[in-house]
Amino acid sequence: MRPGAPEPVSLASGALRAAVLTPLAAGGLLALDDGVVRFAGGRIASVAPAGAGDGDAVDLGESLLVPGFVDAHVHLPQFRVRGRFAGALLPWLREHIWPEEAAYGDPGVVAEATVEFASALLSRGTVAAMVMSSPHAGSASHLLRHPAFEGGAGPAWMDRNGPEALVRPTAAALADLAREAATFGARYAVSPRFAPTSSGEFLAGAGRIAREHGCFVHTHLSENPDEVEWVRSLYPEAASYADVYERAGLLGPKTLLAHVIHCTDAELDLLAARRCVAVHCPSSNEALGSGRMPLPRLREKGVRVAMGSDVGAGPCLSMLDVMRVFREVQAGHADTRPGEALRMATLEGARALGLEGRLGSLEPGREATFVALRLPAGGGRDPEGGLEAAMDAGRGRYGEGVAGVWVRGERRVPAPPPNP
Ligand code: GUN
Ligand code: ZN
Repeated sequence: MRPGAPEPVSLASGALRAAVLTPLAAGGLLALDDGVVRFAGGRIASVAPAGAGDGDAVDLGESLLVPGFVDAHVHLPQFRVRGRFAGALLPWLREHIWPEEAAYGDPGVVAEATVEFASALLSRGTVAAMVMSSPHAGSASHLLRHPAFEGGAGPAWMDRNGPEALVRPTAAALADLAREAATFGARYAVSPRFAPTSSGEFLAGAGRIAREHGCFVHTHLSENPDEVEWVRSLYPEAASYADVYERAGLLGPKTLLAHVIHCTDAELDLLAARRCVAVHCPSSNEALGSGRMPLPRLREKGVRVAMGSDVGAGPCLSMLDVMRVFREVQAGHADTRPGEALRMATLEGARALGLEGRLGSLEPGREATFVALRLPAGGGRDPEGGLEAAMDAGRGRYGEGVAGVWVRGERRVPAPPPNP
């Protein structure tokens, strides 16, 4: 380092003072108007009310510390065309999404978009995600190898009922899938796009491969009535849409199913029995007019639930925006207190991705991975009120509301100044 150059900023050990709001793994929330989070070696050492011995803590001023967000369902190749609406799900896919995803057959496009996407997630406070890439072999590989990426990913395979540029013959798709699952193992997401663009043979093969390599399974379920009807006509032998996946051996505790809106009680019982995760995507559901996830029924049945942006149907990558829309659409139906929205966007997502021991809450032993949200000036440090204000500030806009992001104690956003 040159004499006089600034020290590289490293907070792998340190203490931050701010308001704090976090779900707790044992249940409930911890809310501190004025708290201190201490961390050492990249892990949280303590979270406590600020006291006389905390003079060394860096005071973040009017800020609220929350755990890093987890986006449990998002599409990498739709980031650049997010928020472009054309009616309901099926025409939107055909007119806007599939033509865009065709461009991701070019590995150069994938490489460039992956860097942009990973940095866009982090700048919005999203520290882990379940990502669907384009239906091309290798389209998730850059992301799975990205040093800052946490979570799972895999291509949105299609072997029928789509444009030529995206549909791969069944045997070739299964061969690609098997090779990638063997390469990436437990972090790989076996991701048939959804039942209508998958043959029964492909789904069954995908189920076998996922089990063999202990992979995630990631797909869509019951987002739209026309889609459900299409599945009924393609799979007359199945008892239901969920049963199509069940027969293929795709349902288990590492299975994430986006939407889960138009499901029967029998389907919800099946998802609960298999310990699958239903991913609630409220901003996407609003945008495409897909309907409201029947959250109270899912809770009653004991189905696990996480939260996703579903960009590009969801118009905004910020989980603050997803939480805001969640509170609007579920008001009067489910618990929509700000702390509950936070729990779904952090702890429940971390559980869905098998990251609970490391992420999802601000508790000793977990990684010092958190987001500082800007509180309204002069509004005091009331944690839940502050979170609500931050959700409003995040309304559709890049980076609004997020003042800083730390990963394992290192400040990543805003990025520390480069070493000269
Ligand atoms: N169902 C199948 N593919 C998609 C997709 O790309 N987005 C959404 N929202 N639903 C889907
Ligand atoms: Zn989706």
